[in-house]
Amino acid sequence: VKIAVFASGSGSNFAALENACREGELNAEIALVMTDKPAAFVVERAKQAAVRVVAVEPKAFPTKKAFEKTVIDILRQAEVEWIVLAGYMRLIGPDLLAAFPSRIVNIHPSLLPSFPGKDAIGQAIAHGVKVTGVTVHLVDEGMDTGPILAQEAVRVVDGNTEMTAQSIHAIEHVIYKETLQKLFVANAIN
Ligand code: GRF
Repeated sequence: VKIAVFASGSGSNFAALENACREGELNAEIALVMTDKPAAFVVERAKQAAVRVVAVEPKAFPTKKAFEKTVIDILRQAEVEWIVLAGYMRLIGPDLLAAFPSRIVNIHPSLLPSFPGKDAIGQAIAHGVKVTGVTVHLVDEGMDTGPILAQEAVRVVDGNTEMTAQSIHAIEHVIYKETLQKLFVANAIN
């Protein structure tokens, strides 16, 4: 299964997935990392892992449609079958969605539908919830909406954002590879 990992940030989820592919826990090949932020740390991580990086900056295009057309062309050329969002801080537009119907997956650091959008961990702490978590879901036109594939709860460490974030990320790095593996197997059979 050829996948593209889309990321805008640190790329710890990319690193976990890349490791899982190498270890044979995830039967996939990361054809490329797509980033909208050429200076993001994920670029360093991908280079170190010898994974191709493609940086496409939306501001270089007159419209979102033109931006997404370029992205789609690159993905098609690389024969990418699934898009895996891992800290990609941009809403997927209608053209990219239509090009990969039910084949775009996202991970979000809350129990959706609670706390969608940016800084989900900070939102949860600020709200005072005692339990938050991680959600893996298929992407639709909304922000962190779309059918839920997997969730895991994480206990909030007493208003401590840093420690709560650590537990959340540790769970992300396990739940994403496991959920993707199940998804790819199920889709190969059907
Ligand atoms: C993760 O918490 C993910 O759930 C969210 O963005 C963060 C990305 O972290 N969508 P990283 O760049 O993979 O380290």
